[in-house]
Amino acid sequence: MMRVREPAALREVLRGWRREGESIALVPTMGDLHEGHMTLVEQARRHASRVVVSVFVNPLQFNDAADFAAYRRDPDADTELLRQAGVDLLFMPDASTIYPHGVGAGTGVVVPEIGDSLCGAFRPGHFAGVGTVVSILFNLVRPDAALFGEKDYQQLLLVRRMVEDLHYGIDVIGVPTVRGSDGLALSSRNRYLDASERARAARLHQVLEAIGADLLRDGLPAQAALEVRGMEELALAGFRPEYVAIRRAADLGLPQPGDRCLRILAAAWLGRARLIDNLPVDLPEDGKGTLPS
Ligand code: PAJ
Repeated sequence: MMRVREPAALREVLRGWRREGESIALVPTMGDLHEGHMTLVEQARRHASRVVVSVFVNPLQFNDAADFAAYRRDPDADTELLRQAGVDLLFMPDASTIYPHGVGAGTGVVVPEIGDSLCGAFRPGHFAGVGTVVSILFNLVRPDAALFGEKDYQQLLLVRRMVEDLHYGIDVIGVPTVRGSDGLALSSRNRYLDASERARAARLHQVLEAIGADLLRDGLPAQAALEVRGMEELALAGFRPEYVAIRRAADLGLPQPGDRCLRILAAAWLGRARLIDNLPVDLPEDGKGTLPS
């Protein structure tokens, strides 16, 4: 595996591959890699002959400086994991390389609508930071395909929309959420949980599953009551919930009668950790259905 920090070195490798007719898949990450990230890396192989992973803790998307400072960085462990996984190229740039005019002082990419609600409403500037850095990484690597986790569902839709709006011509592939045995979505932020919080954390996923089951039974008219109930159940379990929302899966708009492909999304604090999760719910044709057996 090659590891490069500079765009010039990156371009040289990519040019060689392109000449040979190779296709390229990119997996953008912020490092501190776990099984969730590694699943994206494995999947990337299916979509291209060369796999590039970027590790860059993007200061522009942290709306809290302390959160940025505390974010775990372990470049040696990440490098070893990626090498073992057979990744072709690891791109590990510095902030001064990505943002030559300074963090927040350069040209930015803001994706309308999708970035404003849910996590966007609670983390001002976060999705502008994501849109900007992903756009810069796309310009540097020019991949054929890029892989993103459904765990960050709003981010996945935001990138899809950006790729359409800016005509990147990149295939954006969503990968289902990888979970621990108790259902908790794997996340770098889980390490902020102490033992008792970790034991309770899977409640987030359970609350979403219960809402999903009742939504299937009662249909869209139950939406508002289920969102309120989800907030209450999370609070009772010791979380500080930010939102529980049932939205249209395609664009996170408010579901309208007749919409069938939905997503239940939630963000909640547990101790020092801000956890997010989401689940798909596909209503049957009459808008209601029976519980899955
Ligand atoms: P990061 O949190 O490191 O995540 C990198 C990628 O891994 C994202 O696409 C994320 O959705 C995916 N991922 C994380 N945990 C996952 C899990 N349990 N199951 C499946 N996929 C998972 O997301 C970011 O970094 C950044 O915002 C980034 C896109 C790199 C831009 O800076």
